[in-house]
Amino acid sequence: MALRKLIAGNWKMFGSLAALSELDAVARAAASAPGVDVAICPPFTLIAAAAARQPALGIGAQDCHWAENGAHTGCVSAAMAKEAGAAYVIVGHSERRADSHETSDQVRQKAEAVLAVGMTAIVCVGESEAERGRGDAISAVTEQVGASVPRTGDLDRLVIAYEPIWAIGTGRTPSVAEVAEMHAAIRQKLTLAFGGDGTSIRILYGGSVKPGNAAELLHVENVDGALVGGASLKASDFIAIIAAA
Ligand code: PGA
Repeated sequence: MALRKLIAGNWKMFGSLAALSELDAVARAAASAPGVDVAICPPFTLIAAAAARQPALGIGAQDCHWAENGAHTGCVSAAMAKEAGAAYVIVGHSERRADSHETSDQVRQKAEAVLAVGMTAIVCVGESEAERGRGDAISAVTEQVGASVPRTGDLDRLVIAYEPIWAIGTGRTPSVAEVAEMHAAIRQKLTLAFGGDGTSIRILYGGSVKPGNAAELLHVENVDGALVGGASLKASDFIAIIAAA
């Protein structure tokens, strides 16, 4: 079954109010690709301004806390991100799993918090280079999927992003066959966990998606979109990826 594709940009800790002008061309491209969902996830501080500038574009956060509120200095809840204008939240990105020692259990709680307030959760998973080298990529990723997906909430608003850690920001990507094998394994894990509902959960590929490789990656079976880092910062590159979808 072909699912509606989602092309999501992750600006990471880049961007500024001035950089939001890039969104104007992205919004025009999104409007002329009605069959594709398009989202941009800027830093928290830019969410409100991004949503105000391009209300028709999907805006997302790059993380949130699992609690509704509380004494968690420096953190932002899902409801706070939503109030600022976000409709999506990326959770469990490998940079957060590494930098902030996030566990799959915490990622699952964050995803549940996102779904609970009616937003879309993009749950990231991916193997390290060592795991791939040892032949453990599939087991590492399917284990992460099992432990990171929400146990409660509306699955229609759950998205998985497969991002091999060694492919992020490196210009390297797995082969088409490796992507197909991994996405099929994730699909199987989702249908084991959720039955028929698992067939309609979108599985994005992320890691060095560029205008030059987007069409090939986006047409692999069970690849239902892309999570794009570096190439989402420049409107012309990101638009070319939307067009490839
Ligand atoms: P990249 O990042 O496209 O720059 O490799 C992807 C990501 O980390 O989401």
